[in-house]
Amino acid sequence: MPHTITVLPGDGIGPEVMDLALHVLDAAAAKFDFQISRSTHLVGGAALDATQNETPLPQETIAASEQADAILFGSVGGPKWENLPPDIQPERGALLPLRKHFGLFANLRPGSCHPSLTHASPVKNELIPNGFDVLCVRELTGGIYFGTPKGREERNGEPVAFDTMVYKKSEIENILHVAFKAAQGRDKRLTSVDKANVLATSVLWRETANEIAAQYPDVTMDHLYVDNAAMQLVKRPDSFDVIVTENLFGDILSDEMAMISGSLGMLPSASLGNMKDDGLYFGMYEPSGGSAPDIAGKGIANPIAQILSVSMMLRYSLGETAAADAIDHAVQATIDSGLRTGDLFTGAEGESKVNTIEMGTAILAHLDKVSPSRQGPLSPR
Ligand code: IPM
Ligand code: MG
Repeated sequence: MPHTITVLPGDGIGPEVMDLALHVLDAAAAKFDFQISRSTHLVGGAALDATQNETPLPQETIAASEQADAILFGSVGGPKWENLPPDIQPERGALLPLRKHFGLFANLRPGSCHPSLTHASPVKNELIPNGFDVLCVRELTGGIYFGTPKGREERNGEPVAFDTMVYKKSEIENILHVAFKAAQGRDKRLTSVDKANVLATSVLWRETANEIAAQYPDVTMDHLYVDNAAMQLVKRPDSFDVIVTENLFGDILSDEMAMISGSLGMLPSASLGNMKDDGLYFGMYEPSGGSAPDIAGKGIANPIAQILSVSMMLRYSLGETAAADAIDHAVQATIDSGLRTGDLFTGAEGESKVNTIEMGTAILAHLDKVSPSRQGPLSPR
């Protein structure tokens, strides 16, 4: 049986990096002997353009994705669509409904910086001599993003706007289980981030985290307030293993993690629903970096985030672990060989500047060399 995926390239650099990622996926399928059945669909600004601004998320895209094992997503948004009504803008009108529709409550965002790339990080290099490797587990379908009431009205002659941060205990339990399991597969340390000194949702979060912790005695958990977590991340990123937090805090902290990693062009992400009986997840996989309209169409974007999104998809949704490991190794080998797209290039000795296609081609060549028996995942795990 082939694995079925939908490919949603979207806008900006999405289509150009997706192209390379699909080459890598095809090469991995051939090498590791599995089949992929894939179809490409419209999303974001590309969908708005094709539907005369009717929707950034056509029904047909949803219907095709419902039949698939996973969604491989590029990126959406750009200046062209910024002045449309907020509800149909690519980000709000496509990303959030996709997450909600498919119940993708668990967002895994690795933020890692390889020792050979620490110079690209804005963190003082003496603080991270060995780089770092953090995984942010963000709750993605609850909290203030989706809570009601949400809106705007007139009170005593002045406009008032309101959002509601709400969490059910079961939602907190679900994401905590994902985070503890992720920690078990890594360094077995989990930091739960909340604002329990102020927010009722955070008090419930912390209580629940402590209860769930009892089921994972092999994992050490600590708690940080979100403001403190933001500080500790720039001061000692290498002391974290897995971070778990609610939707809005995770949005903010994962951007901070991406920034200190040195380049957004390196970071994939996975948004997962419930684990199925076969131990795999329906998921949506996308680069953390967004559509980067400023460099779109120039052929210089770093394809690595999209390629590592393929690897995460193989790992979590398709169960092709050996292929995922091989792709991670091929990316690492390419970085080790000194190739750098513009986002990573510093001109240091041993570096050579390459464009999107050259980077992708080098990764394909390394993938070809990786022995299928070579085991052990590199980050992101
Ligand atoms: C992200 C983005 C989205 C979010 C926006 C585009 C709705 O910032 O995926 O982090 O806030 O979740
Ligand atoms: Mg964000």
